[in-house]
Amino acid sequence: MTHSFEGAGDGTRAVRAGLPEPVKHEPTLPGPVFAAHFHLPGDPTGPYTYGRDENPTWTHLERAIGELEAPGRDGVETLVFASGMAAISAVLFSQLSAGDAVVLPDDGYQVLPLVRGQLEAYGIEVRTAPTGGDAQLDVLDGAKLLWIETPSNPGLDVCDVRRLAEAAHARGALVAVDNTLATPLGQRPLELGADFSVASGTKQLTGHGDILLGYVTGGDASAMASVRRWRKIVGAIPGPMEAWLAHRSLATLQMRVDRQDASAQVIAETLRDWPEELGVRYPGLPGDPSHKIASQQMRRFGCVVSFTLPTRARADRFLDALRLVDDATSFGGVRSTAERRGRWGGDAVPEGFIRLSVGAEDPEDLVADVRRALDESAK
Ligand SMILES: Cc1ncc(COP(=O)(O)O)c(C=O)c1O
Repeated sequence: MTHSFEGAGDGTRAVRAGLPEPVKHEPTLPGPVFAAHFHLPGDPTGPYTYGRDENPTWTHLERAIGELEAPGRDGVETLVFASGMAAISAVLFSQLSAGDAVVLPDDGYQVLPLVRGQLEAYGIEVRTAPTGGDAQLDVLDGAKLLWIETPSNPGLDVCDVRRLAEAAHARGALVAVDNTLATPLGQRPLELGADFSVASGTKQLTGHGDILLGYVTGGDASAMASVRRWRKIVGAIPGPMEAWLAHRSLATLQMRVDRQDASAQVIAETLRDWPEELGVRYPGLPGDPSHKIASQQMRRFGCVVSFTLPTRARADRFLDALRLVDDATSFGGVRSTAERRGRWGGDAVPEGFIRLSVGAEDPEDLVADVRRALDESAK
């Protein structure tokens, strides 16, 4: 029996993703392989030689992610990393050298400015532009790599990946998309023309808030060879247990994203219809500035909703009043979380800006909790 699920639904593909051929008396998903080295008499040929280079538990997970990111496409490779930042750094630092120019978003994940400083220290020119309005188009000339984050975190702006990728390729630049917020079930950057889909698997991909993981999926063999080389040099590899837990979590990916994203839509509508103006942002809301392009390139709109309360004190009272939503950073987990994003100081957001990550609780309970916290915090 061969595992080809082309044409199958997302649930079927998620449940079966990356499973090896069935072997009598073996488990469906083999357990984590804990090995620093593998038996290796004679010439050191792969696939498994040393634990920093390869591990069978990674192989299963990498196949699974590849099947979800680029279904039915040959020649696509996935590499897993210790965290999303390890994956992001692997692409940027393996593809760029002194004298190159790179385009980053200026409203992306809040560690990107630190990355920018490091790239500049290595003599790489960094240009930035906002995600919304495809503004990165204006600074592409002469760039070697375009880095896109859509939807952007935490502002939830969306850009047209296909349009940007075509413009970048016309100028000879490679294109990477941070697919963390959307997950491969929400968006497939390679189908939209990107060379790399890069993500933090810490968020909704694994969804339980208990592991850090990252990955890079790419279709350009020589670019991916440099990313692999970077992983070997830096050694930012996931532990076998994390990789196995991630694979185990993928089986429920479709159930989790469908549940969480549907609830996020309901919460976004509740906030939009609230008597106070809360500046809610959610790509799934028909009136949202991101909605048009998001509807064209996304298959689901994500579990993160952003909105702004009038003051920092009100935002703190709101977070305090929530009972079903933990005040915590990160997003994508089955347990809802929210935070006042301005507390970190890295994002250009108002003091009362809240990033709410909708979990898998019953949507009516979540809506009631949010409504009550809005009411109580207004007093
Ligand atoms: C959009 C985005 N990309 C990358 C990362 C980094 O991922 P990690 O925390 O797994 O290193 C994050 C983390 O919040 C993120 O939100």
